[in-house]
Amino acid sequence: MTTVVVTGATGNVGRHVVSELGRRGIPHRALTRNLERATAVLGPGADLGQGDFTDRDSLRAAFAGAEQAFLSCANDPRQVENAANAIEAAATAGVRQSVLLSTVGAEVGRRRRSPISTAASSSACARRGSLSWFSGPAS
Ligand SMILES: NC(=O)c1ccc[n+]([C@@H]2O[C@H](COP(=O)([O-])OP(=O)(O)OC[C@H]3O[C@@H](n4cnc5c(N)ncnc54)[C@H](OP(=O)(O)O)[C@@H]3O)[C@@H](O)[C@H]2O)c1
Repeated sequence: MTTVVVTGATGNVGRHVVSELGRRGIPHRALTRNLERATAVLGPGADLGQGDFTDRDSLRAAFAGAEQAFLSCANDPRQVENAANAIEAAATAGVRQSVLLSTVGAEVGRRRRSPISTAASSSACARRGSLSWFSGPAS
């Protein structure tokens, strides 16, 4: 069975994805910057990978061996770059299927620095990536 990497795994959305993957017995790796905090959130049995969206090497290590990914990238002024780094790491690792979580109100053309607008840009970035199968918003 393939391994699914989940980014934003300790967040409001990601923690439920991790929980559901675990419930279904699907191998997965939960990305976090802080292993101790992630263990507190996800439980002692969680399979964790340490990485930061701003550190490409850490992302490549965290995605190694994965074939699928759920990409949740936190609202941040650098959200587009962060998502691009995650997409690049996933593609480099050989991930062929991914879901990129968008944001309510995501829309190309909104104010450049709005963290909301970045989700749409991230989606466009993902479609330009080398992933063969991608699920995300149409905008
Ligand atoms: N909440 C909702 O109902 C909802 C609905 C639809 C879409 N969204 C969108 O989904 C995205 C995530 O929302 P959320 O509410 O789940 O997030 P959240 O609760 O704020 O959690 C943020 C997550 O991102 C991780 N993170 C933050 N900065 C990081 C970095 N530099 N490198 C690696 N990981 C980093 C955090 O991991 P660590 O702290 O463990 O490192 C944490 O797991 C946002 O873009 C949001 O707009 C949210």
